Amino acid sequence: MSFFTAARALVAATALSAASVAVQAAEVNVYTTREPGLAQPLFDAFSKETGITVNTIFVKEGLAERVAAEGANSPADVLMVVDYGNLIDFVDRGLTQPVKSEALDAAVPETLRAPDGQWFALSMRARVLYVSKDRVADTKLTYEDLADPKWKGKICIRSGQHPYNTSLIAAMITKDGAEAAGAWLEGVKNNLARKPGGGDRDVARDILAGLCDVGVGNSYYVGLMRSGAGGDEQKAWGSAINVVLPTFKDGAGTHVNVSGAAVAKNAPNRDNAVKLLEFLVSEEAQEIYAKANYEYPVRAGVAADPIIADLGPLTIDPTPLVDVSKNRKAASVLVDDIGFDN
Ligand SMILES: [Fe+2]
Repeated sequence: MSFFTAARALVAATALSAASVAVQAAEVNVYTTREPGLAQPLFDAFSKETGITVNTIFVKEGLAERVAAEGANSPADVLMVVDYGNLIDFVDRGLTQPVKSEALDAAVPETLRAPDGQWFALSMRARVLYVSKDRVADTKLTYEDLADPKWKGKICIRSGQHPYNTSLIAAMITKDGAEAAGAWLEGVKNNLARKPGGGDRDVARDILAGLCDVGVGNSYYVGLMRSGAGGDEQKAWGSAINVVLPTFKDGAGTHVNVSGAAVAKNAPNRDNAVKLLEFLVSEEAQEIYAKANYEYPVRAGVAADPIIADLGPLTIDPTPLVDVSKNRKAASVLVDDIGFDN
């Protein structure tokens, strides 16, 4: 080997190792409570497009506690969860940092993100009504209608303390005040066909069984039931119901909760974290959300799964989730005060 060839080889080797260092640094660490089946296709698509490796830590319980305990040395870049209550909890614990991104601000409706960019919704689930196909003719209902004595002994719902319901009750408090919301919740309690409990799909099951005529459930469960993803039995539950997208009595829109993400306060790969969030609201990722778990995309113009689109157009109630969140505690107290679950 001549001197020049050897030198050239050395230069090439040096360039290669510099490149591989750069590749190694191209990573982002995600802590998430979301199911791997949903999250992985999103991360794979991101890695394919950007070359950035996504290291995922699936944490079922205590995600906030874990990041807090890791402190300044936490490897977490992105915190990805369901329920805006969890996102706001991260902010309250000082675990997030503000992100200013035109792509995120343009894609995520203002009411579904923190005003200072501490968290962003990535997908939505609507709190809808399941009604008996055989016994209920109503195609338009409000949440307030659930307290109408005409439904006495006909309503099924999961625990009032479940976050899906405390969010809805908190939205009612935000709109009408605690007193009116309390009277409404008492009215709903008086109409119950059974003790609150089980899951949202059990509402459809109980409607099929004739135990109740009307119930409250999340939109994506309709997709899970009707698609057959949960088996034939659930498919039968899904076909026993019609779905009404209710509004509050002001007619403004349907209550939604969200899945979302925040950039961690001590993110070692901050730029990649922002890139990942921006990717998650891109058309490509939003389509994956719609298909994988029957969630509504947050980005306008991306179609929901046909089963969900079939429920009719969703108009989101315009109350900012940060405002609703301030009444979550009061909602929980109210549920206890009136003995809703007893
Ligand atoms: Fe759920």
